[in-house]
Amino acid sequence: MTKFHQFDAVIVGAGGAGLMAALHASKGCNTAVISKLYPTRSHTGAAQGGIAAALNNMGDGDSWEFHMFDTVKGGDYLADQDSAEILAKDAIDAIIELEHMGLPFDRTPDGRIDQRRFGGHTANFGERLVMRSCKAADRTGHMILQTLYQQCIKQKVRFFDEFFMVDLLMNGNTCVGCVAIEIATGEVHVFHSKALMIASGGFGKIFKVTSNAVSLTGDPVAAVYRRGLPLEDMEFFQFHPTGIYKLGILLSEAARGEGSVLINGKGERFMEQYAPSVKDLAPRDLISRSIMSEIRAGRGIDGKDYVYMDFRPETINKFKSGPGGKEVTREHLEKSLPEIIEFVRVYMGIDPMEHPVPIQPTAHYAMGGIPTDNEARVLDANEKVIPGLYSAGECACVSVHGANRLGTNSLVDLVVFGRRGGKEMVEYAKKTDFTALPKNSEAQVVAELESLRNRVRKDPKDGERVSTLRTAMQDTMQLNVSVYRTAESMAKAVADLAELKARYANVKIDDSGKIFNTDLLEAFELGCMLDLAECVARTALARQESRGGHAREDFPNRDDKKWLKHSLIWRNDGASNASLVPHGKYQFGERPVRLGRFEPKERKY
Ligand code: FUM
Repeated sequence: MTKFHQFDAVIVGAGGAGLMAALHASKGCNTAVISKLYPTRSHTGAAQGGIAAALNNMGDGDSWEFHMFDTVKGGDYLADQDSAEILAKDAIDAIIELEHMGLPFDRTPDGRIDQRRFGGHTANFGERLVMRSCKAADRTGHMILQTLYQQCIKQKVRFFDEFFMVDLLMNGNTCVGCVAIEIATGEVHVFHSKALMIASGGFGKIFKVTSNAVSLTGDPVAAVYRRGLPLEDMEFFQFHPTGIYKLGILLSEAARGEGSVLINGKGERFMEQYAPSVKDLAPRDLISRSIMSEIRAGRGIDGKDYVYMDFRPETINKFKSGPGGKEVTREHLEKSLPEIIEFVRVYMGIDPMEHPVPIQPTAHYAMGGIPTDNEARVLDANEKVIPGLYSAGECACVSVHGANRLGTNSLVDLVVFGRRGGKEMVEYAKKTDFTALPKNSEAQVVAELESLRNRVRKDPKDGERVSTLRTAMQDTMQLNVSVYRTAESMAKAVADLAELKARYANVKIDDSGKIFNTDLLEAFELGCMLDLAECVARTALARQESRGGHAREDFPNRDDKKWLKHSLIWRNDGASNASLVPHGKYQFGERPVRLGRFEPKERKY
């Protein structure tokens, strides 16, 4: 039996964007949050190094204009500059709001919020590095999540924990809610809303080596795509330079902010060659490419496919790479970077205070996603607002990060655009009545899930295994749509994904039960990831230039004449249901970049 709920505002996802939106929405209308995970397990909790805001607490001459400039330049001029301006300006006030909620930021000796350096953050339009990242050691995201969750509880936001969204509900062009499965019982729930926000985070699990949690499979993003709505700039996927070798677990850029350096197999601090002014604190796209170039030139450690991140105090002091060239101590590093030091000890079995750490670029962040305006309202392919539908956080594309996000700008994005979206949902809910749910609105997706649940394997060789197809998808994405790309490699990924989609039709599962059927949900997640991987590979193949996180060996230069524009991709097979999009049934579109005070220039660091 389907259960029905009605709320003015429903938010899917309980990370930083979802909770910030819920907090502000709940101040003006009745609000629910649906989360696949228990809220405080959301992936915002894995964000380590900090949240940028030009507070200028360190007295190094910072201002929001410099933050805006760095964001636009870091994004290789693809960011919409009105959005970047909002990000940089609103960041200051958003941090103070978090502080007043009780977030335990690190403090300077005189009691202000402490700040540190991060890649690509500079003063005076690129002149020198600046300390802009507000932080709580290297557990900043964790603290944001806990603080916002407590505030939402206080505000009596209604939480539906461990509910899995499987479809978006539309009445004509208006979003009227969503369908979710209660994971514990398998029951179907329909949420009827005036305003629905997708704030479900990224989908890094389409890659093999990723910093993303197992849950980041992008199901709500796929639901939007499956309803025929566009996704924007999907080709831009960020590889964070310093993932633990083979595991992909994030080792925060904060380590480089504190002075750690990248070292190749010849013992050289190679970033001096690639980014002479900012060196190891260049933007992520540039550092990831530099690491891969070193490895390809045979200068990985022992000729292998990794380099070292060295954050031993003696190395930092030898290179004078600590903040302001000052000496750093082991005590300082242990206090500033406790989480990643522990990760290295636990996952690698080495002590990073004694040994350099093997690292490699790890798939980290989707710059693209669901197109929105500055109030988090979702836009169609003609840039018209879809009534009742909102999106914020990594799954959204405002577009504020352009072709490459700067470190610490994701947490700002969450709180700034989560807050704007939450407030806008209230305004919309106040002036709007509920639009009717279509009859049997949940029927299609329920039938889909039932058919999957009944495809039970009869013997070990029967049907395709989800894990086999998932691994094949992750392998081809990792190999062929990676830091460096070519037409040949991306065409191979597209062909592999076509084959995997065909094989998906014969997926079988082992658990036909209803209670906590993660076997079924993983099969559903795989379908969503295949759709999103296809969008990433297709749009990457189409963009014939190199810009930010999209580096093509066959088109090595940025081409503003032809490609200073956002890309769109949407389903066009005429269907409007929640099922896997048949391979190749898509259409491309584009929209202009909103330029402003910063003319596109060659990006030098
Ligand atoms: O390196 C980090 O701490 C990651 C931060 C981010 O992605 O913004």
